[in-house]
Amino acid sequence: MKTDLNTIQNLILKAAENARRETADEPEPEKPKKSKWPIACTVGPGLEGAIACESKVGYVNGTKGWLVYRGYDIFDLCARSTFEEVSYLLLHGKMPNMAELTIFKEKLFNYTRINKVVRQLMGFPIEQMSVMGALRLGANLMRREYSDLDMASARPASFEAISSDEDSIAMETTPHGSNHATFEFKSRSNRKAAKSKRGFDKLSGLEDSYHLIAGISCIAAATSRLHNDKLPLEPQPDLSHAANLIYMITGKKPSPVEERVMDIALILHADHGMNASTFATMVVASTLADIYFSVGAGIAALSGPLHGGANEDVIRNLREIGSAKNVKPWVKKKLDQKKKVSGFGHRVYKAYDPRARILGPLAGLLLKEKPELNPLFEVAQELEKTVMDMFGKEKKIFPNVDFYSGLIYSSLGFDEELFTPMFAASRVSGWTARVLEYMEKNRIFRPRGLYTGEFNQMYVPIDQRK
Ligand code: SDX
Repeated sequence: MKTDLNTIQNLILKAAENARRETADEPEPEKPKKSKWPIACTVGPGLEGAIACESKVGYVNGTKGWLVYRGYDIFDLCARSTFEEVSYLLLHGKMPNMAELTIFKEKLFNYTRINKVVRQLMGFPIEQMSVMGALRLGANLMRREYSDLDMASARPASFEAISSDEDSIAMETTPHGSNHATFEFKSRSNRKAAKSKRGFDKLSGLEDSYHLIAGISCIAAATSRLHNDKLPLEPQPDLSHAANLIYMITGKKPSPVEERVMDIALILHADHGMNASTFATMVVASTLADIYFSVGAGIAALSGPLHGGANEDVIRNLREIGSAKNVKPWVKKKLDQKKKVSGFGHRVYKAYDPRARILGPLAGLLLKEKPELNPLFEVAQELEKTVMDMFGKEKKIFPNVDFYSGLIYSSLGFDEELFTPMFAASRVSGWTARVLEYMEKNRIFRPRGLYTGEFNQMYVPIDQRK
């Protein structure tokens, strides 16, 4: 059966129906109310459970298996919206009207033509760099020569640096219960948020965000082509962002189905609460470092195999397993080695990741036209079944966003080294949206560590040490 755009939309609506039915018994989240800081929360290692800030950008509910961008359900956005619309929504907090979307698309297109940056990039030993490495370098090359925050005059005067008073208090003590409670929140009502003398310039922050959303896609595509001894390609004015991404990588204009699947993959990866790379981006931005450096930190964090790098690991595992009959012994061996199976598990989701609910069937759809990749899809389906049977159901470990995305990118003709960069090409929308939101009331991130070391160590001169 020829796949068409209706088939894709019906697949998404069916996935939405399954998701809502499977988690119908879970309570719906309460309507968010204005929180009164400080907020009490139970914090585990890796800041598990810690509430770092308020946000209206996006929401993840791990037990309902919900993913929401600015109040819109991810299934609705995948069924009806586009990556351009969703990026605008995340950044601006509302859906664009026709005029706003036209201007936004024009800006994205023009910002994708960063020939000067690509030419500078080609001056570096790109063939020895991973695409994620090139993205970090490229993000910094994209940075305006004179970012607002480079100029001394923009630096906040010391009395505006709002964290100085807390840092003057011994921080490594338990906040409550000790008889020397030396850690307390000063009333913040009379404190102005830390911002440069001219304030965080939201407008230039928006332009920088558009620039980064467009540029990350362009740099990923250009680096991939250089790795294949081909020259980078300019985007085409008649193509959407998703179609141009495929074109700039492969040199071929995608079919409507391929374009729609790429668009949906970009929508699905755009934002996901306070994940490691988003948090890294915000931490750097909270020091008033500029947004290009902040996105560079997000790219670095995303590259790790426990985070965005998992999608490359998944496809390597599928190739290593080779056939469905090898799945069980392979999983058993992984568990015996106390290793994690990439593409499964999540810090928040204890229900099926809604993104995997959509990416899985989409992979199946695309692979119908690519029979040579079918064995990998069969292995993936057997792997999902085996992991769920062996420990997934019991430990609430389900396939996550990284499990099927690599199969989709392979069927679009992308090299494995591009899988995580595709994640970055989308997530840069969520990163920048959350940075802009946080900078409205910036406060430098500065958590605490629980000191478990010694005190009163005597200094012994080196010639008396054993
Ligand atoms: C992403 O945060 C986000 O939102 C991230 C992300 C986003 O959109 O930004 O969703 C994208 O990063 C998805 C995750 C991609 N990573 C992987 O697929 C790597 C494999 N997954 C695991 O490393 C793990 O599940 C994490 C890192 C995703 C979550 O780790 P946690 O929350 O710290 O969980 P944990 O390591 O403490 O595991 C809890 C238990 C352990 O068993 P016990 O020691 O309690 O017996 O579950 C087991 C783990 O061994 N477990 C797994 C497993 N994931 C958890 N066992 C085997 N395989 C796995 N994949």
